[in-house]
Amino acid sequence: MINPKKQLLQNKNNKILKDFLENGYVVIKAINKNDFYELKNSVIDRINIKIKKKIFTEKNIKQYHKLIGGEEEHKKIIFSDRYIKLNSKIKNAISRNSIINLITKKYWGHNRFVIKWIGSSLKKNQIRNNYCGYRVSRPVKYNKFDTAGPHCDIHVGGRISSDKKIMITAWIPLEGFTDKYTLQLFKGSHHKLHPLNKIKKRTNTVSRIFNNNYLKKFKKSRIKLKPGDAILIHPNLIHGGGENFGKYSRLSVEVRIYNIINMIKYPISLKG
Ligand SMILES: [Fe+2]
Repeated sequence: MINPKKQLLQNKNNKILKDFLENGYVVIKAINKNDFYELKNSVIDRINIKIKKKIFTEKNIKQYHKLIGGEEEHKKIIFSDRYIKLNSKIKNAISRNSIINLITKKYWGHNRFVIKWIGSSLKKNQIRNNYCGYRVSRPVKYNKFDTAGPHCDIHVGGRISSDKKIMITAWIPLEGFTDKYTLQLFKGSHHKLHPLNKIKKRTNTVSRIFNNNYLKKFKKSRIKLKPGDAILIHPNLIHGGGENFGKYSRLSVEVRIYNIINMIKYPISLKG
């Protein structure tokens, strides 16, 4: 007879896996409190380095929109190299997370993955192992629209892809946890093969932003999270475009978990 505790855990895990496959996302406890503050502080340090001023702290980062010098300074922070290196504790917490391992094993057929940051271009400095991306979003009340439009993460490095097993994204909020702030999710949209002509045109790389008419088909939602939580996102799930309706600035990171086996099909520059 199976141990009741084990059975309970198995049922819980089956439900999480089912939710991920059905909805295209699931919430997990990704990092503990200490790691959460370390992660938050390393993003803040990076921001201070980029503007060459020590303005921001763990306490005042939510007032980013008031303290930042202006648009030029903001651009320095968000437009290039918006990434940080994960320390080994955080890297291990994510790599050993039981839910991430369960989903990859059951969905990909193996759990051989690597944490990697690949920016929207194939430039060498945009591909980094054990790095994650960050984003700052100022409140819309201040007429600031810093959120990335609705997109899927599947088009790695700006190249069109249909490989639904190429990666999983872990979105971790560092400031702003209620539904006024968190990532907007288009539940179940990962089941569709999104037609490329529904994507808005952009000149430099493949645009990933979907047009509003196409988005009407899907139900939008935003969920309340806690510090240390992550939303695991299927690469074909439409997400983003969730403006910051709160009074404070939002800060978040995106950790990309790449399927090592499927990366083999990608150009050498992306394999890194
Ligand atoms: Fe994304």
